[in-house]
Amino acid sequence: MKKINLAVVGATGMVGRTILKILEERSFPVNNLYLYASAKSKNTKLTFDSKEYIVEELNESSFDKNIDIALFSAGGDISKKYAPIAKEKGIIVIDNSSAWRMEKNVPLIVPEVNSGDIAWHNGIISNPNCSTIQVVVPLKPLHDAYKIKRIVYSTYQAVSGSGIGGIKDLENGIKCLSNEKYPHPIAYNCLPHIDIFMDNGYTKEEMKMIDETKKILNDDTLRITATTVRIPVKNCHSISVNLEFEKSFELDDVYSCLKENKGIIVQDDVKNNIYPMPINVDGTDQVYVGRIRRDLSVENGLNLWVVADNIRKGAATNAVQIAELAAKNL
Ligand SMILES: NC(=O)c1ccc[n+]([C@@H]2O[C@H](COP(=O)([O-])OP(=O)(O)OC[C@H]3O[C@@H](n4cnc5c(N)ncnc54)[C@H](OP(=O)(O)O)[C@@H]3O)[C@@H](O)[C@H]2O)c1
Repeated sequence: MKKINLAVVGATGMVGRTILKILEERSFPVNNLYLYASAKSKNTKLTFDSKEYIVEELNESSFDKNIDIALFSAGGDISKKYAPIAKEKGIIVIDNSSAWRMEKNVPLIVPEVNSGDIAWHNGIISNPNCSTIQVVVPLKPLHDAYKIKRIVYSTYQAVSGSGIGGIKDLENGIKCLSNEKYPHPIAYNCLPHIDIFMDNGYTKEEMKMIDETKKILNDDTLRITATTVRIPVKNCHSISVNLEFEKSFELDDVYSCLKENKGIIVQDDVKNNIYPMPINVDGTDQVYVGRIRRDLSVENGLNLWVVADNIRKGAATNAVQIAELAAKNL
């Protein structure tokens, strides 16, 4: 693979710093590296591959350089403004925000599920929402085998999903200090409220899971509902998934179907109290699936418990995997 000139926008954030770590871990072939953040972090020093890099303040001329790929993780407003500037200069943008995800000519990619969609990118490729990434990995083989009709998502999402501000609210809350990021204390609490409320009563996070699942699985006929909840866990999102299939299934075949997928670890041995939990999944790149059982309330129903590291597989790892796909064609 050719050595890539890479930019990371939002390099000082939770996701940006993890992207740097994962680029190192996966030996991504980096040639020149440019790190951008806000004025607040200008001149911050970050280390990559034992070399020190100085963070620059992002501005409209940041992309007047020989850059092949830019990984954006600095929020939707920054992506909306700067991704078109980078794209105009011939740079492939891989965007972690929700700014471009539902645009028709922007592929939304989870490499284990729809890597082929990269073929139709037009300069911007979106990284899906963290909860959606982890859940579509086990849904894809099950959809192929049994055709999903309906999905009910109930999430238990970690504070790292809100960036550094979310972690601070949890740590401060435990010390009885007040909250700044969330509308209510998150310590010893849970908030059925992630992102803003929409006119239909859902939160934007819930609508992201619904719309992005349909786009990634390329199936608008799926009926999906979601309730997304922030819980006082530092890292790793957990999702309870209730599925209703068109076809009947045997549980043994469901296990085999999930186990065949490299990106999935089935952890399901309830006799020995073994099931996926955030404290064990933290720091990993696979999606962990357990509590696999029939939903006794419907015909052809299946329940799953799905846990993944939202900063790694839910954001940084997935973005780097997309960069690897994009780099193959450069
Ligand atoms: N956390 C997750 O689980 C997760 C998952 C998927 C996607 N995402 C998305 O990834 C993005 C970053 O999330 P995060 O959790 O890493 O947030 P974060 O920890 O708050 O980091 C935000 C980053 O954006 C930079 N930034 C803010 N304003 C900027 C500006 N005006 N110009 C340039 N850079 C600016 C910050 O730089 P300073 O240090 O200078 O402030 C920092 O590097 C968001 O779009 C988020 O929705 C997050």
